[in-house]
Amino acid sequence: MMAKERIAICPGSFDPVTIGHLDIINRAAAMFDRVIVTVMTNTSKLCSFTAEERVGMLRKCIQGAENIEVDSYDGLLAEYAAKKGACAIIKGLRAMSDFEYEFQMALTNKKLNPEVETLFLTTSAQNMYLSSSMVKQIASMGGDISDFVPAEIHRDIINRIYIKK
Ligand code: PNS
Repeated sequence: MMAKERIAICPGSFDPVTIGHLDIINRAAAMFDRVIVTVMTNTSKLCSFTAEERVGMLRKCIQGAENIEVDSYDGLLAEYAAKKGACAIIKGLRAMSDFEYEFQMALTNKKLNPEVETLFLTTSAQNMYLSSSMVKQIASMGGDISDFVPAEIHRDIINRIYIKK
């Protein structure tokens, strides 16, 4: 009998994807048969890129990776994970400041879908303070973001975010 494919979801706003996200996605892909990176709606964030644009940027960054795919979903994560037959939701955990919010989401998702486990991967030390909003703030003021975002989408970010004075 063939073993059941183990699918993990890496959900997020990805507005835009950073090298911190990609590190988590690649580490998840090394542990699971298939990883679905899903662009979702965080109702407490205003995005600078449309869901289609965020999917497009993610696809540019993960091209060539065999077991990673990119999707988007405008609904509940717990519902999406059930639909895809996923056994895990993977999130990166940075500083303590992430903890309470992530813990609350993990417990809520467990309540909504007891079949799915949320796993936290420790962010690599160099990405501990990296966030999409920090990247956007630096880009808007003309700062150098090349250490924080994949080269494939560097231009897309500058074109959208940089405010000429
Ligand atoms: O990158 P983010 O903004 O921290 O990701 C948060 C995200 C998009 C994963 C979260 O807001 C989410 O799961 N949104 C989908 C709607 C949902 O399921 N909300 C309830 C979560 S407890």
